Amino acid sequence: MSTSILRNKKVLITAGPTKEAIDPVRYISNHSSGKMGYAIAEAFLQHGAKVFLVSGPVCITLKHPNLTLVKVNSANEMYLACCRFFQVIDIAVFAAAVADYRPAQIAEQKIKKDDEAFIIKMIKNVDIAYEFGKIKTSQQIAVGFALETNDELQHAVAKLCKKNLDMVVLNSMNDANATFGYDTNKICIIKKNFTQKRFELKSKHEVAEDIINEIKTHVAHKEIFDKVSAA
Ligand code: CTP
Repeated sequence: MSTSILRNKKVLITAGPTKEAIDPVRYISNHSSGKMGYAIAEAFLQHGAKVFLVSGPVCITLKHPNLTLVKVNSANEMYLACCRFFQVIDIAVFAAAVADYRPAQIAEQKIKKDDEAFIIKMIKNVDIAYEFGKIKTSQQIAVGFALETNDELQHAVAKLCKKNLDMVVLNSMNDANATFGYDTNKICIIKKNFTQKRFELKSKHEVAEDIINEIKTHVAHKEIFDKVSAA
């Protein structure tokens, strides 16, 4: 039996890409494989947590008695699935690469190539991490990711503040063998107090353990703080 501080903690994890339909046969998506989110889910399960994994379309299978897996396609479906768990969770990890925009209209029939140019009007999707940040209680912990190509730290800190996250995991597209599709990743974790910790290139499973260790430390500090405040 696990004696981890995460035992029986309820954890929501989003993973993978979303697919935004254009018509019955086409969609807009991104290169996310879901490997990082699933590795985090697996690590939490190994620590005895109860995991609610809301996953976009990926080619990974994960089974565990403490896992509730909800498969979705679009950002809106992912948001609605997450809303079911927002009130009950202790920890949320937003690892999904959610599409920021979706086609304003989904054509009912396959669109024919009649014109020389084809313009799709896109409208903004709901930001799941931001919505959770608005209602998050002081007992809940939120962890987000920031995938950046430039001014990485600046953008990651902006996301930390805007989405009311407790920590943000920064990925840079400039690091070789990290991010989309690879089995390895290189991260920097920035916390609410703006301290930052950089990690070496590691397997996504080792990276998941690093992230979970930071969350465990956060939970432990929080529990001590709560005890001292209540005394
Ligand atoms: N996120 C989310 N819902 C969205 C967009 C992003 O929950 N609609 C979450 C991601 O899972 C991640 C964090 O917000 O934890 C940052 O996502 P990212 O794509 O890096 O940034 P955006 O907020 O979408 O901003 P931008 O695309 O402008 O960099």
